[in-house]
Amino acid sequence: MYLPYLGIFIVGLMVTQTAAAPEGRIVNGNVAANYQFPWHVSLTITVSDAASPRYCGASIISSRYLLTAASCLKNAQSVRADMGSTLFSNPKQTQYTVHYAVHPQFNSTYNTNNIGIVRLNDEIYYSNEKRAILLVGRSKVNSTFVDTAAYISGFGVYQKEMVYMSENLRYAYTTVVTNTRCELFYPPLSVSSETLCTTGYNHSLQTGCYGDTGGALVAHIDGTWYQIGLLSSIHNGGCSGTYPNLYTKIMPYLQWINQMTGLAINP
Ligand SMILES: *[C@@H]1O[C@H](CO)[C@@H](O)[C@H](O)[C@H]1NC(C)=O
Ligand SMILES: *[C@@H]1O[C@H](CO)[C@@H](O)[C@H](O)[C@H]1NC(C)=O
Ligand SMILES: *[C@@H]1O[C@H](CO)[C@@H](O)[C@H](O)[C@H]1NC(C)=O
Repeated sequence: MYLPYLGIFIVGLMVTQTAAAPEGRIVNGNVAANYQFPWHVSLTITVSDAASPRYCGASIISSRYLLTAASCLKNAQSVRADMGSTLFSNPKQTQYTVHYAVHPQFNSTYNTNNIGIVRLNDEIYYSNEKRAILLVGRSKVNSTFVDTAAYISGFGVYQKEMVYMSENLRYAYTTVVTNTRCELFYPPLSVSSETLCTTGYNHSLQTGCYGDTGGALVAHIDGTWYQIGLLSSIHNGGCSGTYPNLYTKIMPYLQWINQMTGLAINP
């Protein structure tokens, strides 16, 4: 009922009214506008135990660090990070790095503590096309974010073979729902106070899909965009929108992120 190593499958952010066609055609997707998700990064990860690369999402959290899922970085040999474009084949900046960290308590069976950090070798020069997302701050420490409207962005094709990525950056508009909803579909141990659960906004079928793992879940709070989660798990029942997505909450990991990167914790 559950895929522990999601980054292995191709990413697809899709919106569909029906099950995807076997060819993997994307149906009813939202194509992102320029500058809409300037923090979005596409990762292509070379994995020691796989012939094909793994595709994941990530977010820029500072000029030298990216946030993603630990499951994306598992057994990674090197990471290619493409930034600054809504076109997959035309990034404005590409960097390669072998420096990354996965959370020490990451459990790959249940995808708990599914969070990791990539350290870049060179600075990202911020522009309208590429800049950091603010991480949610201390004042939201007790928030469940239930009923919050939130976006997940990603390149990708719904296809279980790692062949294509979507040429266009896409996004799904979602609502945070209670963890009870995810407990219906995911193993109980994988759902906790460290996770967020989402469904399509206003009962729509918009959803993150294979390979969007690691991408930022962002919400507009008090006039500012904040990252509140990162995509951790996708149900292997597919991306028809029937199944909720499971996210790693950012809040419980602010201290760890601070230790690893020196990035200040927001108020
Ligand atoms: C994951 O957690 C389960 C339950 O606590 C534990 O039995 C298992 O050994 C853990 N696996 C890893 C890889 O840490
Ligand atoms: C969070 O909850 C704890 C325990 O109830 C409380 O002491 C604290 O003030 C709360 N923090 C915020 C920012 O609401
Ligand atoms: C929610 O969906 C219903 C039915 O499609 C529509 O009438 C309504 O306007 C939508 N509400 C919002 C806030 O988008």
